[in-house]
Amino acid sequence: MLTEEQKQLVKDTVPVLKESGVALTDYFYKRMLRNNPHLKEVFNMGHQRSGAQAKALAGAVLAYAENIDDPGVLAPVIELIVHKHVSLNIKAPDYNIVGENLLHSISEVLSVPMEDPLIGAWEAAYQDLAGIFIAAEKKLYDEHQSTPGSWLGWRAFTVSRKMKESEEITSFYLKPEDGQALPDYKPGQYVTLRVFVPELNLKQPRQYSLSSQPGADYLRISVKREDPRAEGQDPGYVSSTLHNAVSEGDTVELSAPAGNFFLLNPNVDNVLISAGVGLTPMMSMTHHLLAETADPNSRLAQGAGTPAPDKKQIFFLHAARSSDVHALRQELSTLADQNNNLQIFIAYEQVKENEVHGKDYHLHGRLDLNAVPAEYLPADADYYLCGPVPFMHEQYRALLERGIAKERIHSEAFGTGGVGV
Ligand SMILES: Cc1cc2nc3c(=O)[nH]c(=O)nc-3n(C[C@H](O)[C@H](O)[C@H](O)COP(=O)(O)OP(=O)(O)OC[C@H]3O[C@@H](n4cnc5c(N)ncnc54)[C@H](O)[C@@H]3O)c2cc1C
Ligand code: HEM
Repeated sequence: MLTEEQKQLVKDTVPVLKESGVALTDYFYKRMLRNNPHLKEVFNMGHQRSGAQAKALAGAVLAYAENIDDPGVLAPVIELIVHKHVSLNIKAPDYNIVGENLLHSISEVLSVPMEDPLIGAWEAAYQDLAGIFIAAEKKLYDEHQSTPGSWLGWRAFTVSRKMKESEEITSFYLKPEDGQALPDYKPGQYVTLRVFVPELNLKQPRQYSLSSQPGADYLRISVKREDPRAEGQDPGYVSSTLHNAVSEGDTVELSAPAGNFFLLNPNVDNVLISAGVGLTPMMSMTHHLLAETADPNSRLAQGAGTPAPDKKQIFFLHAARSSDVHALRQELSTLADQNNNLQIFIAYEQVKENEVHGKDYHLHGRLDLNAVPAEYLPADADYYLCGPVPFMHEQYRALLERGIAKERIHSEAFGTGGVGV
């Protein structure tokens, strides 16, 4: 427990540390990775290039310290971080490593010796925060241990099928090498995949949402190839390894499905709004919802395309630059043809001459909710958003303007630090 005096010491120094920004995080990561090189296989070395992860971890510690009188400030993001940590197999002893390096970095940036009471105050603050995470993560590890088919640590999977879904996205069907059962994950959840990246001579972990239907004897992920964003930059390490160097029959490692973005209620209308590769969790949700509501007789009787009055509806709204980069397009339209409770609405920024409005796409341009039929956006539905952060912000605002309650809007960001909209 921190004394009042310690709390004050911590609060007084937050502004200086925040101002040092990159200095603190840079020093911290460099020191930690130099002294604990095994962590290079835990942290995202791509984020080390871009600085994204550095800001996230140290930023969260600073946000906590700044609000030390009201530790609830981190509550909304704790669940997200905890799921990610568990998915990366982060354990209690790792917190000592982070803590020690963070304290040395604070001492360095503030130019105070490690023996100073200020560092003692920061140590107490960090221990409190670490304690919250360690306890919450233990609960999740225990859950995995008691869930049939689930596992702890890394499990070897064979790539049983590799399938190109668009110019940029390829699916990987993954089967456990031990031949044992898989857990009944929640549609929308992700796995962390770990693979050896030759350029780094290291294994690297990344999260991928499952695009498959829970209950299948495989897990499917659909991965976008991350090309260099600027001249002279490298492509994404893991996505390009998966696209270029991993073939059918090869082995990758996965941690158990995790994540707090998942379908909450199949008994209400569900509106799934995605852009680009953000459709992966939506595909899993759609498969799951359709399996839940499958009723072949009524489907045959009513024909596709006519909403069945007795069924809860799924509205799948998707934005893509063009059909060339629209993954899983055929799979989705087949599902819509076969199920009258699935309505799709596709927005392409560019359309081709032979593409038919109302069939191949529904809007030429960016996804604008004002152009979507009003019945696709029911007031009492649950809403799920996944795509680039600016896209999600835009859709979130548009939904609020339409009077959708914010408690019914759920979102997933595919990067670090995007802790909800
Ligand atoms: C919950 C969750 C679910 C996800 N689900 C999916 C999914 O279903 N499908 C999917 O494809 N992805 C998904 N992702 C994203 C995925 O985890 C990876 O982030 C993505 O594949 C990129 O990883 P990478 O190793 O290829 O790129 P990284 O090596 O991590 O690089 C990231 C980006 O930085 C760029 N870069 C290269 N050099 C530099 C430099 N010097 N400075 C700045 N930038 C540079 C790279 O080109 C790349 O675009 C998900 C992420 C999360 C958190
Ligand atoms: C109190 C201590 C910690 C805090 C406050 C913290 C905070 C965070 C935050 C905010 C994120 C980003 C979540 C997101 O936006 O997706 C994150 C991710 C992550 N954390 Fe922690 N963390 C702590 C401890 C640790 C420890 C002990 C480790 C392991 C040594 C660790 C490893 C990671 C990794 C690997 C990621 C994924 C991000 C990436 O790969 O770039 N964290 N953490």
